[in-house]
Amino acid sequence: MSGASSGTGAFTGTPILTVRNLRCTIAGQQVVEDVSFDVPATGITAVLGRNGVGKTSTLRGILGLISRRGEVTLAGDRIDGLPTHRIVRRGVGYVPEDREVFSKLTVAENLALAERQRNPRREFVAELFPDLVARREQQAGTLSGGQQQMVSVARALLNDNRLLLVDEPTKGLAPKIVTEVADALQKASKTVPILLVEQNLEVVRRLADDVVVIAGGCVAHVGKAGDLLDDEDLTRRLLGVHAEHAA
Ligand SMILES: Nc1ncnc2c1ncn2[C@@H]1O[C@H](COP(=O)(O)OP(=O)(O)OP(=O)(O)O)[C@@H](O)[C@H]1O
Ligand SMILES: [Mg+2]
Repeated sequence: MSGASSGTGAFTGTPILTVRNLRCTIAGQQVVEDVSFDVPATGITAVLGRNGVGKTSTLRGILGLISRRGEVTLAGDRIDGLPTHRIVRRGVGYVPEDREVFSKLTVAENLALAERQRNPRREFVAELFPDLVARREQQAGTLSGGQQQMVSVARALLNDNRLLLVDEPTKGLAPKIVTEVADALQKASKTVPILLVEQNLEVVRRLADDVVVIAGGCVAHVGKAGDLLDDEDLTRRLLGVHAEHAA
C-alpha cells in the first residue's frame, strides 16, 4: 500500500462495481491473491500493473470466466456466485485482450451476433466507427488489428451495458489507431462506465479518471489518474516506468 490514497475508499458516490478480496486460480495456480477496489458509476477507471501481475485475470474473475472467490457487487447486487452468461445479461460488457472477433464472418455478422437486446444501439456504434460501416461486408479476419479492435469495442457498445470491462485495447496498434480507439472509448465512456486495463500511460492520462494499481497479487494503490502520473517516483515504483516516456 502506498500513501494516503491507498485502500478501497478513495472514491466518493455509489460505485457501479465493488470487488472485495477477489482471489482467482487457473488450473489450481493462484493468479490473483487478494484484490479489492471500487469502480465509480461514471467515467473510466484504469487498472495498471506490470506484466503478468494479474490484470486480465482480475477482469476474468469478475466475469466468472476463471475460478474465483471473494465478493463482487454490480449496482449493489452480488454477482460473484453467478455464471458468466448471467453476469453478461445483467449488463457487463467485455472486450477481451485478444479481441476474439470471428475471423471468417463479416463485420456485419460479427456485430449482429453481439446484439442482445431488441433495440441495439446501431446508430451510436455507426457514429463512433464510420470505418466499420464502410467495411460491413468485409471478412473480419482481413481487417487490420486496429479495425478488429474497433469491432470488438463496437460489439460491447451495441447493448445497454451498465459497465464495460476493456482489456488492453491499444496493445500493438500504430499511434494513429491508438488515438482513434482512445477517442471511441472516451465517447463511449460518456454513456457507460469503463474499467480499462491499459499499459499505455499517455492513453491512461488522457482517458482515466481513477486508477487501481495491482502489484504482488494485491491492490497497491488507488487514486486519481493525474495524481499518480504526476508523481514520477510513485509511477516508477509501482509500474517501473517513467510516465513521460511511456507513450
Ligand atoms: N492459462 C493460464 N495458465 C496458467 N497460468 C496462467 C494462465 N494465464 C495466466 N497465467 C498466469 O497468471 C498470472 C497473471 O496473468 P494475467 O494474464 O492475469 O496478467 P496480466 O497482468 O494481464 O499480464 P499482461 O500484462 O501480460 O497482460 C501470470 O503469472 C500468468 O503467467
Ligand atoms: Mg493481460
